[in-house]
Formats: sequence, structure tokens, C-alpha cells
Amino acid sequence: MLSVIYVSVADPGLAPADIASLVGKAQANNARDALTGALIYNGQNFMQLLEGPVARVEACLARIRADLRHNGMIEIRRRLIDEREFAAFSMLYSPLFRDHDADLSRLAARGALDAQDGRLMTNFLALGRAGGA
Ligand SMILES: Cc1cc2nc3c(=O)[nH]c(=O)nc-3n(C[C@H](O)[C@H](O)[C@H](O)COP(=O)(O)O)c2cc1C
Repeated sequence: MLSVIYVSVADPGLAPADIASLVGKAQANNARDALTGALIYNGQNFMQLLEGPVARVEACLARIRADLRHNGMIEIRRRLIDEREFAAFSMLYSPLFRDHDADLSRLAARGALDAQDGRLMTNFLALGRAGGA
């Protein structure tokens, strides 16, 4: 399987209802496509982890890349995996992740992981374990 994490810049016009419908659609599609993952949003940037069968992840990323609700998608981690990190979630959306709003903005502006991102990434990946999978 393939696991990809990317960051992007959200359309500033997005309202809470837009995020809710985006997440609902992602969850329905991903359940159909055997994809799992997580999404966070700080009002300006998205970070998403998407994992599953290689071809399905690539196809989904191509759709997401073309989506006008965000732009400037940059992959910050891509790896082949044996086990999913978000097995219990078609697409976890965590509004409780606001502690890291500034960290996510800095990461998205920089466009690459560095040592400063350790806590952000650890806490993001820990969301998957909270599902008890
Ligand atoms: C930040 C972001 C994350 C998204 N995540 C997913 C996703 O995990 N799965 C998915 O199918 N679509 C996701 N989408 C939506 C896709 O871009 C696209 O609108 C959708 O897959 C089209 O589905 P449809 O062909 O069923 O209408 C996301 C869009 C954005 C902007």
C-alpha cells in the first residue's frame, strides 16, 4: 500500500459548511475505494494523509490535486506501507487539532518537513491510534 501526506493552501472563501460537505464526500468515496486517512484544517491550510492500494491512492490524489477548493499541494511524506496508520477512519477530520494551527501554517509555507515539525507530526499520527484500530 501507499501512504502520502500533503499540505495545501485552502480557498479563503471556504465556509464551515463547505468543509463539512468536503469531508462527508471524502468519507463516502474512501469507504468505497478502501482508502483511509486524516485531514486537518487551520482556516488557511490543509494537511491530509491518504493511504491504501497504490493505484487508488494515486487516482484519489489526482482528483484532489485538481480540486479548486485548494491549491499548491505539496507532498511532504510518501512511503510504501504494510500497515495503515488510520485503519479505523475513512477520513478522520479533527476540529480538535487547533493547537497546531500556527505549526501547520509554517510547514505549508516552508513546503518540507524539518525538525520543528516533530510535535505536529507526532500528534497528527497519534490521532489514528485514538481510533483503537
Ligand atoms: C483538502 C481536500 C481533501 C479531499 N479529500 C478527499 C478524499 O480523501 N477522498 C475523496 O474521494 N475526495 C477527496 N476530496 C474531494 C476530491 O477533490 C473530489 O472533489 C472528489 O473526490 C470527487 O468525488 P466524485 O467524483 O464522487 O464527485 C478532497 C478535496 C479537498 C479539497
